[in-house]
Amino acid sequence: MNISQFKDTFFEKYGNRNNKPVLFFAPGRVNLIGEHTDYNGGFVFPCALNFGTYLCIRKTNDKKLKFSTLNFNEDQVTELKELFRNEKKSWINYPLGVINEFLKKNIKLTGIEFLFYGDVPNGAGLSSSASIEMVTAVAINEIFEAGFSTLDLVKMSQRAENEFVGMNCGIMDQFASGFGKKDHAIYLNCDTLDYENVPLKLGDNALIITNTNKRRGLTDSKYNERRSECEKAVELLQAYKPVRNLGQITVSELDILEKYIKDPVVRKRARHVITENDRVLEAVKVLKSDNIDRFGELMNQSHDSLKNDYEVTGNELDTLVYEGRKLKGVIGTRMTGAGFGGCTVSIIKKEHAQDFMLKLSKVYTEKTGLKASFYQPEVGDGAKRIG
Ligand code: GLA
Repeated sequence: MNISQFKDTFFEKYGNRNNKPVLFFAPGRVNLIGEHTDYNGGFVFPCALNFGTYLCIRKTNDKKLKFSTLNFNEDQVTELKELFRNEKKSWINYPLGVINEFLKKNIKLTGIEFLFYGDVPNGAGLSSSASIEMVTAVAINEIFEAGFSTLDLVKMSQRAENEFVGMNCGIMDQFASGFGKKDHAIYLNCDTLDYENVPLKLGDNALIITNTNKRRGLTDSKYNERRSECEKAVELLQAYKPVRNLGQITVSELDILEKYIKDPVVRKRARHVITENDRVLEAVKVLKSDNIDRFGELMNQSHDSLKNDYEVTGNELDTLVYEGRKLKGVIGTRMTGAGFGGCTVSIIKKEHAQDFMLKLSKVYTEKTGLKASFYQPEVGDGAKRIG
């Protein structure tokens, strides 16, 4: 990102070079392990990426909110209201939902000019939407001196996504975008929101993200279906002990599922969440002791569980993972994010990384007719002002 060029584009669009805009960045994320555990009060282990959403922003003296993006040609202008309603399918619902959160908290806003630019591949499950929300939240918080903490901004962004955009996600994506730290992963307890930045020391291994490039169609409805299956499991487990969420059941209690959950599908869903939580605990421990091989095994087990028990993978993700595992130098590989499409995350010996990408690309196209994309991201910081 060339900051002065981005500001120039801002001036070309909005004029008035005497009133300086400021620049913010919020990252996308990749989750290393701990999938579909966040809304179950469990553990996750994501990290922030060096790609995300940039925002050049400036206050004005009128009451107009002006939105523009370098990603596509869809400028929009709207009058500042007391409260907004999501009326149409538009990209501005992401920033508008966040603006609404500030309005609900009685922060007095004026007109604002926005210029966004995102370099997270869209619809790839790498949290492009959370990065738009977080960059908006951090920017408005600063230019209007609203004084909210990063955790407040994370929660406001999640609420914008849940209530305004209408996607009932957990807190992981916004949290990772807010609290990321360069070269660290975030070990987050989604029940208490306690977290720790754990150094991501991969030694002579590379982190590679592979995009299925499959259009995600049913993701939202299937996501909500999984959430209700987990709620059902919690309801049934009340006969065993009073639990608020599946995160409160440990692997040593797995046996009780058979007795209390008769529906085999609901039982499988619960088993995934409980075993996945345990995998995160172990993954963090082994990473701290530099046991990357075991970390990779846990990633593999995570994918198998997401395929067999949680059933959120599908042919494209499975092809990448199971064909990938046959290749030399692969330490671990799994789907990341909500599933059904999107990306896999893999740890691979650096010396075999090129070969991995070449070979996997070929066999993936043969088997699915699609073309995969590969990224070798850096692990970056959370949302912040950059200029
Ligand atoms: C999506 C959601 C997250 C999380 C993951 C699955 O990315 O936005 O909150 O539930 O799916 O782990």
